[in-house]
Amino acid sequence: MDAGTQLADDAAVIERVLDHVDSHTTDLAAATWREPVEHYRSPERYAAEVDRVLRRRPVAFCPSAALVEPGAFVAREAVGTPVVAVRGRDGLVRAFLNACSHRGAAVAGESTGCAKALVCPYHGWTYSLDGRLRGIPHGHGFPDLDRGDGGLVPLWSVERGGLVFVAQHPPTPEMVAEVGALPELIPDRFRFVKVTENDVPTNWKIAVEGFLEGYHIRSTHPDTFFPIQYDNVNVIEQFGRNNRVAFPYRNIEALRDVDPADRHADGYLTFAYQLFPNVIVATQPGRTSLIVLEPRGIDTTRNVAYTLSDHHDGTTAAEAVLAKEESFAAKGARQDRAVMTSIQRALTANPREHFEFGLFEGAIGHFHRQLAALLDADTPTDEHEPRDG
Ligand SMILES: [Fe+2]
Repeated sequence: MDAGTQLADDAAVIERVLDHVDSHTTDLAAATWREPVEHYRSPERYAAEVDRVLRRRPVAFCPSAALVEPGAFVAREAVGTPVVAVRGRDGLVRAFLNACSHRGAAVAGESTGCAKALVCPYHGWTYSLDGRLRGIPHGHGFPDLDRGDGGLVPLWSVERGGLVFVAQHPPTPEMVAEVGALPELIPDRFRFVKVTENDVPTNWKIAVEGFLEGYHIRSTHPDTFFPIQYDNVNVIEQFGRNNRVAFPYRNIEALRDVDPADRHADGYLTFAYQLFPNVIVATQPGRTSLIVLEPRGIDTTRNVAYTLSDHHDGTTAAEAVLAKEESFAAKGARQDRAVMTSIQRALTANPREHFEFGLFEGAIGHFHRQLAALLDADTPTDEHEPRDG
């Protein structure tokens, strides 16, 4: 099924928002969801999430816009595995284990950059952008090495809708089809501005949940998002295993005077797309963020945020507008982090069986339902280890 067609167009979402505003309602799930508290603190459960879901499936790794030129690369850990994605001279993006075939040091040392070749800083072994081993200093010291077999370890990767997806194991045809069905999320006109990383002392699922409902806007964000948004008004859609939650701004009411055919969401609402399991694409006025919520352990999540902009022309004026928006969003993010950190702190002592997610929190229920379905259904298969040889 084409996931793109499962999502309403802007005009339909705006209509639904205005109806909710008029009738003081919001989208409701068919049922509440109970998630065992144990699922946030059990090391076995965490290991299953990592081994059988996060490292088993294609996950959005970085925006295509960070890899425009041949030689442009993005390097970071994906659930504990060092990965580098690089655009080749043929225009294709490839992903590799970021480890030299000699002694395993990282061949891409920075989070982003552009290089003619990937050169290991340890002994200078050099790889072409397609991962082939191209040069060994004092190569006569390795008389038995098969150079054709000495390239970087390739990982499955594909570009889709402005995102680069990487899988640490060869994905099933069904997983590949799920990526192929995604709509275009980051249009070509968006330029990569920067990437920031923050560690938050909370379980990765708590970090994901923070993006999936607007029920907390008034309480958590009284001086940031609440003044410009509504209390508990969202349009929530599911597409495949993924969610899209629309957070409307109060200025959306100006669209009542605009012909429905001419209504567009940009500037009137934020779409938060959750790409199952741990990636968020959030649209804001003038910019889009790709946020990867990287588990660093059961109780730590690295928030890796790629900022993209279609307004940023490199001028100081554009820089100032972006900086203002970012300091506002950063304040809101700090408010979320404080709440998430406090949930994590109380987990060990929490005697309750479940967290109960209400009818306003249906996107969270969908997230947990997908995770549970995969963990219950999958039998681990290790027949296709990509790292052999
Ligand atoms: Fe929030």
